Amino acid sequence: MTTAPAPIDTSHYFTTDPHAEARSLSDTALGLTGSEILKIASEIRALVAAGQDVCNLTVGDFNPQQFPIPVKLRDATIQALQAGQTNYPPADGMPELRRAVVAMYERMLGLHYPIECVTIVSGARPALYATYAALLNPGETVVYPVPSWNNNHYTHLTGAHAIEVSTHPEDGFLPTAAQLAPHMEQARLIALNTPLNPTGTVIGREELERICDLILAENRRRDVAGERSLFLLYDHIYWMLTFGTARHYTPPEINPAMAAYTIFVDGISKAFAATGVRVGWAVAPPHIAARMRDLVGHLGAWAPRAEQLGSAQLLDDPAAIQAYHQTMLPGVQQRLDTLYNGIMAMQDAGLPVDAIPPQGAIYLSARFELIGKTLNGVTLRSNEDIRRYLLERAGFAVVPFGAFGLKDESGWMRLSVGAASPQQIEAALPRVRRALEGS
Ligand SMILES: Cc1ncc(COP(=O)(O)O)c(C=O)c1O
Repeated sequence: MTTAPAPIDTSHYFTTDPHAEARSLSDTALGLTGSEILKIASEIRALVAAGQDVCNLTVGDFNPQQFPIPVKLRDATIQALQAGQTNYPPADGMPELRRAVVAMYERMLGLHYPIECVTIVSGARPALYATYAALLNPGETVVYPVPSWNNNHYTHLTGAHAIEVSTHPEDGFLPTAAQLAPHMEQARLIALNTPLNPTGTVIGREELERICDLILAENRRRDVAGERSLFLLYDHIYWMLTFGTARHYTPPEINPAMAAYTIFVDGISKAFAATGVRVGWAVAPPHIAARMRDLVGHLGAWAPRAEQLGSAQLLDDPAAIQAYHQTMLPGVQQRLDTLYNGIMAMQDAGLPVDAIPPQGAIYLSARFELIGKTLNGVTLRSNEDIRRYLLERAGFAVVPFGAFGLKDESGWMRLSVGAASPQQIEAALPRVRRALEGS
């Protein structure tokens, strides 16, 4: 018997020179900023490993034990795999799923789109990237509100120029038409998200109407001047998750002419707690959809065939969607309401906290107004200090709005409920109260 030669130890050839990164990588790669949420996640893991009880409200994800995916999605995906649906999908997606998206938009949003407008991708992220890449030349301007999710990264990846519009708690941290108006002439793309990550707030009909009016007026001006059009990226990945009186509106529903300028980004990740299944789509004017398909195709960022077919079966079944949401939505709302009521009870007791009533998505905006305060011997000077204090003292893990681009040190935090049980939330609130009381 011959013995196999010892494997070549490749690690021997890798440099440990700290300047090597700069010598090796592109400016784009070097300029990427890491996720603050992932950094916080590793702190939480360390605390849990040390035996501390932590209520983890940091990840914008679902714990499958708390929020499993719809049975129909699971079973239809497994069946498709078993039936041998394992080769490349068509570049713009399986016709079954494209048709199902068209039918669902018609049924649930009252919008009819030709099938050419629908591009299926592996989750909402590739659709976001492809929108930026399809529309923005390097140096062209994208306008987006802060706090918001990941626009900074897509701006960086495409070499675009960002105008960040800081929003205010009295507007639910949503951008107003008045705030966007001064940037219309310069913008090539306006990127909006509703229900909004990180705030859980929803753009109202009147404000959206005013924003659409601005975009349409600007495009009328550009048409006459022969200038490039202004587009609206409308990320409504959480549109099925609204609570109470909050309602989701779409730009073409408010003014049909907006169909020419709106790129919808959407998918199953949030509406069906299916973040790891990786099925999303864009709905856009056909000439833009075709280029987005080509961009995504070169990345190979298609959703797998079987998962597309499983998703098609779910979207084509209104009863299954309704039954799923009858359990899921109250589950999300119960967690958000428990947090909101708990925080407002602390406010009633004179503690320096505040929160915005939940309207949508899986997030609550909560304020811990502790800057300049000393609690249990710890002086809190920044949002980051507050975050760490709440984590270490109360096992209450949250993410400051700073991680979503808002620069104020005002103590506003995102509380995300998809991975926490109602019991964990209830158990954490008294710990938070004691930490705020400094005891
Ligand atoms: C507003 C928003 N858009 C898009 C995404 C990405 O969704 P996906 O997981 O389908 O890529 C997220 C995920 O957190 C999000 O919050």
